Amino acid sequence: MDKFVINGGKQLNGRIKISGAKNSALPILTATILADGDYSLGNIPNLMDVRTMLKLLGVLDIKYNFSENSVHLKNLGNNELYTAPYELVKTMRASVLVLGPLLARRGFAKVSLPGGCAIGERPVDQHMKALAQMGAKIDIEHGYIVAEAARLKGCEVYFDMVTVTGTENIMMAATLAEGETVLYNAAQEPEVVDLAKFLKKMGAKITGEGTNVITIKGVSELRPADYIVMPDRIEAGTVLCAVAATGGDVVLEDAPVDCMKATIDKIIETGCKVDIVNSSTLRIVSNGKLRSADVVTQPYPGFATDMQAQFMAIMTRSQGISVITENIFENRFMHVSELKRMGADIRLKDRSAVIRGVEKLSGADIMASDLRASAGLVIAGLIAEGTTNIHRIYHLDRGYENFDIKLNNLGADIRREKDE
Ligand code: UD1
Repeated sequence: MDKFVINGGKQLNGRIKISGAKNSALPILTATILADGDYSLGNIPNLMDVRTMLKLLGVLDIKYNFSENSVHLKNLGNNELYTAPYELVKTMRASVLVLGPLLARRGFAKVSLPGGCAIGERPVDQHMKALAQMGAKIDIEHGYIVAEAARLKGCEVYFDMVTVTGTENIMMAATLAEGETVLYNAAQEPEVVDLAKFLKKMGAKITGEGTNVITIKGVSELRPADYIVMPDRIEAGTVLCAVAATGGDVVLEDAPVDCMKATIDKIIETGCKVDIVNSSTLRIVSNGKLRSADVVTQPYPGFATDMQAQFMAIMTRSQGISVITENIFENRFMHVSELKRMGADIRLKDRSAVIRGVEKLSGADIMASDLRASAGLVIAGLIAEGTTNIHRIYHLDRGYENFDIKLNNLGADIRREKDE
């Protein structure tokens, strides 16, 4: 296991290139189950989660070659294989994204139930309910979702809550279903739109992506396609937070500017200057002295829950009091106790955190608990006085490509070391 040793107090300056979006790459990879043949996918971030997904596809007889952010895949069409084993699913909840494509293409799916994680229970009942409505026989047996359908049938699906991977799973399943499927209360996240664009290149008939009603007309067959995955808005937002807090002048290249409005607005509210140079370039200038701002996490286009920990980290040193309300996951405040160990003044009440800005954070030994929490802790380490050791940094590695190297290129002082 690795840890980060961060010597805080350095300003960030220079240029940084944003990687491909993890949450777009993962569903797009699973969509290759839907048609046999060869695929070439670009801008794929080299991350633990992506490598886990490729391993899972390998188990399903989809061969791959991953190098330099490109993946070439060959789906050999082995319909006898339809099991996503516990060993792989337990390390990455997004593995459940193979459920819809497997059922639609191979007629069977056996996918280990992902179980809970540090940020909450995270059930997949909405995925299962929708597939049952589409005619699948679906049960839970020995910790696995076991599903069967000769051919799924289109229908109207009303999601009880906005679910990103739920929308993606059912959208993929519906591409090969008989007739029309309409998804109501669908997720509008840009990654859902990116997946829809890829599916359309494969021959799927989809309209309404990016709104809360998505219509899919089933086709009898899809074909393989090549695609370039969109850039990662959460990585870009994390960099904005880091620079806001440390102070400095940074240009972000290959940023998905159009879908970052909620984050950009909040960063501007804290007193930083953010220029939209063009549709893929942002420039942030900060003197490191931030005003407080309140945040409520919401489905897209609201403020992303995946940005909550990072924003909280910068609020710990703001001038004033801010309230951060987490509406998406019930237990996504694991970073609070670690930030408090560094001197932050945070009080939790139900789903809200009240943060009173302090003069300084001081370096400490702290523990990463989940992916985005660890990004918040890295930001805290960058602004703290002295040295911060962040243990269990593998959580960060699941979702940020070479983040230590990228931040060091901007002037940060982060060392990756082996931890006991
Ligand atoms: C995705 C993202 C994750 C992000 C989250 C919310 C991927 C791979 N991951 O996760 O980074 O934090 O969206 O933006 O894209 N729920 C149910 N039943 C279900 C499905 C969801 O109760 O069947 C609940 C969840 O527990 C949660 C809420 O709905 O409280 C939203 O979850 P969801 O959008 O499904 O999150 P993921 O798709 O897992």
